[in-house]
Amino acid sequence: MGIKILGIESSCDDTSAAVLDDGRVLSNVTASQAVHLRYGGVVPELASRAHQQNIIPVVDKAIADAGIKPGDLDAIAFTRGPGLLGSLLVGTSFAKGFALAQGLPMIDVNHLQAHVSAHFIIEEGRELPKFPFLCLLVSGGNSQILLVNDYMDMKIIGQTIDDAAGEAFDKCAKVMGLGYPGGPLIDKLAQQGNADAFEFAKPNIKDYDYSFSGLKTSFLYTLRDRLKEDADFIEKNKADLCASLQKTVIDILMKKLIKAAKDLKITEIALAGGVSANSGLRKAFEDLHTNRGWNVFVPKFAFTTDNAAMVASAGYRKFQRGMFCDQTVAPFSRTII
Ligand code: KG4
Repeated sequence: MGIKILGIESSCDDTSAAVLDDGRVLSNVTASQAVHLRYGGVVPELASRAHQQNIIPVVDKAIADAGIKPGDLDAIAFTRGPGLLGSLLVGTSFAKGFALAQGLPMIDVNHLQAHVSAHFIIEEGRELPKFPFLCLLVSGGNSQILLVNDYMDMKIIGQTIDDAAGEAFDKCAKVMGLGYPGGPLIDKLAQQGNADAFEFAKPNIKDYDYSFSGLKTSFLYTLRDRLKEDADFIEKNKADLCASLQKTVIDILMKKLIKAAKDLKITEIALAGGVSANSGLRKAFEDLHTNRGWNVFVPKFAFTTDNAAMVASAGYRKFQRGMFCDQTVAPFSRTII
């Protein structure tokens, strides 16, 4: 009988529950919140309310899909932060009640460590990254390069000083009048466009840090200037704008990552977070393997955006080390690893 962990993720706008057995996924259920679409972004109060509505059915389904009973579980792991406080409170409070009712130990999980821990999910025929490795963590809220020394030992060696990569995609999509979230829409349009059609500003900042606000401004100014000449400029050039923007974001991300890998002489490189679903970025990682022979680890699509399997995966590693929390634990909205 393996160690069975129930994972709960509720940091933003996805309510997710998963069951892992000795690090292998038995179930992974996510309810996304369509309520935010019409606002063009996540509305925190609506997110909390939707989590409150979704959490019980999502957990019920995850347990049923896993083919187990609540009494078979060994622990409950939940996202403690960072994220939206109201959203986190739903998952944390649920975990407390469930732990009390079932007599289970609780494990608090850092959301960013959870994204990296998606790479520790055990699957037949899949190799795990060897320590130390570098992980490029790119999502709607974060853009970081992490030095991962161990399951629990992750150090941020570079991070964005302003916007995250996903945020840059989402904001540029918004000014083009595309929907939300913009990342997947830009990715799709980019596939039909010319990536060299437009040139946008790239940041020049120190070490392994990132910046995306200059790119966003440069994108905005290009649109503003070109719209003066042609009111249909966006419509006529949508695919080329998306392809050029995507190429610029990927160039910025990869340049610092390659620099860090060379400086630290680390050739095991992983990708994580919502933006890791981007086809161009995934291709850039494949190229690292093809052109440089580095070992690259790109997550399955199901583990790119927020999901509870990655939370349970981090929880499993903490369980093995006896790292539990008690009923006084409180969520946090911002932190560093
Ligand atoms: O990790 P995530 O689900 O949520 C958090 O930020 O925690 O990431 C969401 C972000 C959004 O900004 C979304 O636009 C971006 O990931 N994203 C993408 C793609 N799919 C999702 N960005 C670019 N290309 C994609 N295919």
